Amino acid sequence: MSFSAAWLELRETYDRRARNASVVEAAVAALGDRPSVTIADLACGTGSTFRALKPLITSRQNWRLVDNDLSLLARAPQPSPPDVNVTAIPIDLGRDLEAALDGPVDLVTTSALLDLVSDEWLQRFVVETAARRLPVYAALSYDGHVALTPTESADPKIIAGVNAHQRTDKGFGPALGPGAAQAAIERFERVGYSVVRGPSDWIFGPQDREIQIEMLSGWAAAAREMGGVALPNVVGWLTCRRELVAAGQSSMRVGHTDFFARPIATR
Ligand SMILES: C[S@@+](CC[C@H](N)C(=O)[O-])C[C@H]1O[C@@H](n2cnc3c(N)ncnc32)[C@H](O)[C@@H]1O
Repeated sequence: MSFSAAWLELRETYDRRARNASVVEAAVAALGDRPSVTIADLACGTGSTFRALKPLITSRQNWRLVDNDLSLLARAPQPSPPDVNVTAIPIDLGRDLEAALDGPVDLVTTSALLDLVSDEWLQRFVVETAARRLPVYAALSYDGHVALTPTESADPKIIAGVNAHQRTDKGFGPALGPGAAQAAIERFERVGYSVVRGPSDWIFGPQDREIQIEMLSGWAAAAREMGGVALPNVVGWLTCRRELVAAGQSSMRVGHTDFFARPIATR
């Protein structure tokens, strides 16, 4: 599954606003006062997590930005050393997750990845990070809760279709979709991690037209693909919702969860 740089740029503003401050604070605090830290950002896209965390970390920073999309990696930031170093590393995390974690790493980060992965891959991720005693900051996993204002009668059926689509294969096997963050938190707790979690919902107001249109169009396509709603009803729903957006009468809340998981006995 591929993601356009334009889409990642559009969502980054809302992601930045949504990131749960307590979870970010816990992740940054866990780095302590080490003079230098190495952070592996998995499925980095164009570097959204790097941009969100970099200003908050006072140590010298080495970032390993990992993704399998070369066109996104090519847009990764290139800050000036020596205080911040960035290395862009092309890795298919489905195949070579371990390569992304090997070597000296102080923190693993990821955003908007876990809802794409399968339960099997998640288990491997937990096992491999726990074996290396690595703390993990995982932001912006979609949780399936959507609130649209004003409501339309077809909303629940469309969102049910979206959530079913979220569980289809995104390149890692059947995806965990809305269940991803909860599954990850439970798995980390089972292997002796302590977890700080918090909501990181996207909130789109009437003025946030572009992202609302993108979301609604994507949802209509996903619901259509799942087949639970007849095409004329999907089209009618999308037309009606687009008119509300255009009239500045639409707001949306899209549920996400952030967590920071840390081995209880730290190294
Ligand atoms: C929703 S985007 C999130 C990007 C970025 N973390 C952000 O928050 O803007 C998902 C990312 O996962 C990457 N991805 C998907 N499958 C992958 C795989 N098998 N190996 C590495 N990266 C992958 C995509 O290229 C994309 O950059």
